[in-house]
Amino acid sequence: MNTQDLKALDRQHIVYSWKAQGQVDPVIIDRAKGIYMWDTDGNRITDFCSGLLNVNIGHSNEHVLDAMRKQMDKLCYVGTMFGTEPKAQLGKMISEVTPGDLNHVFFTNGGAEAVENAIKAARWYTGRHKIYARWRSYHGATSGAITLTGDPRRWPAEPGIPGVVHYFGPYPYRCPFGSTSDEECGERTLEVLKTQIMLDGPETIAAIFLEPIVGTNGIIVPPKNYVQGLRKLCDEHGILMVSDETMAGWGRSGKWFGIDNYDVVPDIITTAKGLTSGYVQLGAMIWSKKIWDHYQTNPFVGGLTYAGHALACATGIANIEVYKNENLIDKSRDNGKYLAGKLKELENKHACVGDTRAQGLWAVIELTSDKKTKAPLGGFNNSEKNIAGQIMKRLIADGLYIFAKWDFMFIAPPLIITKEEIDESVVKLDKVLDWVDTQI
Ligand SMILES: Cc1ncc(COP(=O)(O)O)c(C=O)c1O
Repeated sequence: MNTQDLKALDRQHIVYSWKAQGQVDPVIIDRAKGIYMWDTDGNRITDFCSGLLNVNIGHSNEHVLDAMRKQMDKLCYVGTMFGTEPKAQLGKMISEVTPGDLNHVFFTNGGAEAVENAIKAARWYTGRHKIYARWRSYHGATSGAITLTGDPRRWPAEPGIPGVVHYFGPYPYRCPFGSTSDEECGERTLEVLKTQIMLDGPETIAAIFLEPIVGTNGIIVPPKNYVQGLRKLCDEHGILMVSDETMAGWGRSGKWFGIDNYDVVPDIITTAKGLTSGYVQLGAMIWSKKIWDHYQTNPFVGGLTYAGHALACATGIANIEVYKNENLIDKSRDNGKYLAGKLKELENKHACVGDTRAQGLWAVIELTSDKKTKAPLGGFNNSEKNIAGQIMKRLIADGLYIFAKWDFMFIAPPLIITKEEIDESVVKLDKVLDWVDTQI
């Protein structure tokens, strides 16, 4: 079918995420390999955002495809009451790369379901009902996860589930408490949280959720003193610390998990995305020993038809083998530093770039209309000027896919990318920023 007809078919039948359907105008992708995708007209597009920041090992990796084919020939799925070799093996392999004693895995289909189950697990474990989640966060689109979400995607879903309380996390570039250094921002933000918890009743709080590094709200990297202080605060009050590693996990931040950047061990990890790099869907909620021990005698009242899907687990195993065999965690850290340097050059050159932040191969360019005052350019939750939309359109026409919204340009290539390939894409970013400069 030609592209025109395919597009017409798509627009007749397919409901897209987050948008008024009349605004949807998708590029139709035909195939993908490594860091590249090709559309149905044969145009090559660099996937500089790894799909939705999940295709961490790159597209169509032969080792993973082979493992999937072998598993398909043997067994795709059995009821969740049965054990399978891929499920048990993947549980072990996950526990070998998670921090501390996080060795016990409940499989889900994605990140939001992992978060839903972590909310339940934390409430039943502590016997408390309140769940803390930070402003400027995203935890998924199901009813509990979207209630935790601290951005405008939550608004239409309100009032959401009861018992969710939002807190401010550190945002050093725009510190809500007026500090002038990362460390001071960490300290002040933690002091405010301590006061909030004192006033709210620590013995009513089951868990504090955090994205260890904030993802779709701007790749906000919290200072170390903050994350370590948060761990202490949780310990003091018997509150569980839940690290949502849906996006931060699997090498994206230059470590296996985002929380590893802080030498902190959370009580529960939720994850998905890079666990299978999107080859099939799989998520996980991972428990530390104390949670595991509690549920030896107390039922965990959660279940999903596809929990521990054999094909998905075999895909997860093959992914972890690729991360290890191809040294992708180290590559993310090293090439991430290289990328960060390139982005700093763009920051110094362009009037429209207020800040650039990177941790591993996970970066953002934050736009501004005034470097001194840090005034927004597109604006928070504002599509009036549609700067982000125009950036994405211009880049796609130039063969580069990144995700952009508000004043954020997200950059998160597959971890297999080389320095030369980073350079090629940075040239295109430089060019589009020349245009953004004219929009101030
Ligand atoms: C931190 C975080 N949590 C949860 C989710 C939701 O994951 P999923 O879309 O797989 O349900 C996302 C998705 O982007 C995420 O970034």
